[in-house]
Amino acid sequence: MDYKNYIEIVQNYPKEGIVFKDITPLMNDGDAYKAAINDIVKYAMDKEVDIVVGPEARGFIIGCPVSYALGIGFAPVRKEGKLPREVIKVDYGLEYGKDILTIHKDAIKPGQRVLITDDLLATGGTIEATIKLVEELGGIVAGCAFIIELSYLKGMDKLKDYDVFTLMSY
Ligand code: PRP
Ligand code: ADE
Repeated sequence: MDYKNYIEIVQNYPKEGIVFKDITPLMNDGDAYKAAINDIVKYAMDKEVDIVVGPEARGFIIGCPVSYALGIGFAPVRKEGKLPREVIKVDYGLEYGKDILTIHKDAIKPGQRVLITDDLLATGGTIEATIKLVEELGGIVAGCAFIIELSYLKGMDKLKDYDVFTLMSY
């Protein structure tokens, strides 16, 4: 399937100069969404993953169906103030801003093998922060899966030590 047919490109969103890749048409199409999730599930199959972790909000759109298909749990990484119990946190920057990401302290048990999912790898700031949270809790990053990589933003440079899967690259 040519997944690029399902991505809408929006100029100057959310800020002037940003070329936004919108995955919602892919999600809107049942066959395309299912095929994309199945490709990530296949990638994860031989990695002996114990839990899936994804950053708010688009990381949930990918990670939750993947964890359901694998029959394992999902742990959300959320922006500060959104998780109700004790968290650890990390500052990070992304293509069009900066923020704080958090995860519940008990979300991952030491030694658990983790698949991290997100819709898109841009500068790699979000994934780097998510990896930091997972590793601080003692998790082992078994793989990182994205629908899209923006290769011109060099996020992959931050993932040299990790196994990475992407469905398409711009
Ligand atoms: C987007 C996207 C990735 C991140 C990628 O999330 O879903 O998580 O940016 O950018 P980076 O590689 O430069 O860090 P955003 O923070 O816009 O949040 P959203 O998923 O809630 O829209
Ligand atoms: N997240 C960070 N950069 C992005 C982009 N260019 N398009 C969609 N999501 C993004």
